[in-house]
Amino acid sequence: MTADDDPIAKAAYDELAETYATNVRTNAYNAELEFPATSSLIPDVDGKRILDAGCGTGVYTEWLVERGADVVGIDVSDEMLGHAIEQVGDGDCTEFRRADLEEPLEFATARSFDGIVSALALSYVEDWRQVFSEFARVLKPGGFLVFSTGHPIDEFPPENDEAENYFEVERLTKEWDVEVPYYRRPFSEMLNPLLENGFRLETIVEPQPTDAFAEQRPERYEKESRNPVFLCVRATMR
Ligand SMILES: C[S@@+](CC[C@H](N)C(=O)[O-])C[C@H]1O[C@@H](n2cnc3c(N)ncnc32)[C@H](O)[C@@H]1O
Repeated sequence: MTADDDPIAKAAYDELAETYATNVRTNAYNAELEFPATSSLIPDVDGKRILDAGCGTGVYTEWLVERGADVVGIDVSDEMLGHAIEQVGDGDCTEFRRADLEEPLEFATARSFDGIVSALALSYVEDWRQVFSEFARVLKPGGFLVFSTGHPIDEFPPENDEAENYFEVERLTKEWDVEVPYYRRPFSEMLNPLLENGFRLETIVEPQPTDAFAEQRPERYEKESRNPVFLCVRATMR
């Protein structure tokens, strides 16, 4: 694979991995806004086999293993995976693999997972019909998919003046320590690909900041209490 063929966010996450690993468990936006909401949607996983799709440095993998799951964590960034292995361990209950969510999940047989968690990773995938079709293939009937992503309102003007046409899937960039390319999409292009692939929509959460967020980021609390930043979804395979 040449760098030109690499998934859009791989290089950025390879570069960000060290900082991400240090900050993700304490950063107010992750730890006190996205994580509490997404994790609240995950059902009992004790004894279940779960795919952590876009596992990054393994925050959700660790949480799932602590609750009795066997977890396969996949990510496209070797550097992020390196931190996941360091922090969670590649052990009896965990397996980490390099895999691209834009491609078929060749390592996974049909109906081999009880659940899939995909936190903040799908923004880097252009075609949600393809990825949800793969999720549908590898999930057992009745299996769950919990995912989180940027909220379509937060990713559109006035919050994001780079966006041009609400109704399009647009490739944009955000500036963290490095430029991170991502795709924004309308709300319908989040839910319809899910429904078209046989998922039943169960719950949607538009998280609001916790009290701990207010203590950590008082200057952002007021704004984030009024404006959605993330969208968290639970769906079930029919
Ligand atoms: C914001 S991080 C989220 C990581 C983790 N789920 C969490 O909540 O901390 C996004 C992750 O998606 C991964 N990613 C981006 N594009 C991907 C792709 N096409 N296939 C698999 N993983 C991808 C990145 O490497 C990065 O680790």
